[in-house]
Amino acid sequence: MPPGDDEDDDRPVLTVDLGAIVDNWRLLADKAWPAEAAAAVKADAYGLGMARVAPVLAAAGVTTFFVATAEEGIALRSLLSAPDIYVLNGVASRCAAAMVRHRLRPCLCSLSQIASWKESGEGSPAALHIDTGINRLGLPPDELAALAADGGQLRGLEIALVLSHLACGDDPDHRLNRRQLGDFRAAMAALNLADRPASLAASSGIFLGPDFHLALVRPGASIYGLAPLAGRPNPMRQALRLEGKIIQVRRVDRGMTVGYGATHPVGEPGRIAVVGLGYADGFFRALGNRGHGVLGGHRIPVVGRVSMDLITLDVSATPPGLASPGAWVEFIGPHHSIDELAQEADSIGYELLTALSRRYRRVYLEPAPGESPS
Ligand SMILES: Cc1ncc(COP(=O)(O)O)c(C=O)c1O
Repeated sequence: MPPGDDEDDDRPVLTVDLGAIVDNWRLLADKAWPAEAAAAVKADAYGLGMARVAPVLAAAGVTTFFVATAEEGIALRSLLSAPDIYVLNGVASRCAAAMVRHRLRPCLCSLSQIASWKESGEGSPAALHIDTGINRLGLPPDELAALAADGGQLRGLEIALVLSHLACGDDPDHRLNRRQLGDFRAAMAALNLADRPASLAASSGIFLGPDFHLALVRPGASIYGLAPLAGRPNPMRQALRLEGKIIQVRRVDRGMTVGYGATHPVGEPGRIAVVGLGYADGFFRALGNRGHGVLGGHRIPVVGRVSMDLITLDVSATPPGLASPGAWVEFIGPHHSIDELAQEADSIGYELLTALSRRYRRVYLEPAPGESPS
């Protein structure tokens, strides 16, 4: 049962354990030490609420944050005045002045962004983002060669950080990891930036070993409890609980079907519990006839399609006293991790987290005294 249960409130409850988030960041910071551990709080801290998460992380010792967009950076600056804030998606000319005003540091990813920040950045620091094989953002090889040949393009810019991003960091055996590390070092040397702070590792990169830590690591997902390495035991604490309340329990008989499209034929007489949680809440439609909840220690399958605001679960094998209106079903929590639910939806924890809806009643558990440094 979630904290502060209210009989009259049928909304699903999302409980965010800020203490677990702090513990997770500390575990990563210890592992990466002496590298600095930053925190990625883009996409509203992966859906968990940047306004609640970022101040707690800052109190725990985070001094560098990463967001995706200038808008996210401005929102973060209004919460925290001290930390360095890097904007991963770079700088669009329409936001340059606002980025300077709010002391945001763009991760410059092309020659044109370098030129534009030289012109409009008023000497403010920036990061240089080099692509070493993911072929997403970052200076591509031809632009890197042009920059190495004409270092003048960087003159007058304060490059406070050089970064690159791993394509396969969650697979420790993937040969691209070492190749990207080597290419990153070579690129920094070619640009005469070998003495600058460098960053390559996000969550999974931290677990590839000290070679990958460089000066700064920038985890996101693992801070929020997702497993950093695919298919390996998860060393992170679960920071999230999602519970939905049973609104109605109904009897069904052989020959009936459940839900839109009649996709679940009833084989034996049984009981169906209806919970007020649907795809409008980020409970993916792909979980229809595939997902699970947990009720009093019993795994109960989602049967029939997920609809906008409701799901149906087979509680035929659950003691009737447990499966009754008002009972809480755990969908994410100690008995069913985000990664498991994501797998059932044929997705990843990142997508599930960032889809979490505003419609939930949100409960934040503050770190216990002593969990944050005074
Ligand atoms: C460039 C960059 N750095 C850091 C991160 C944080 O990654 P993770 O959430 O896997 O720790 C991301 C996430 O997508 C990213 O794109």
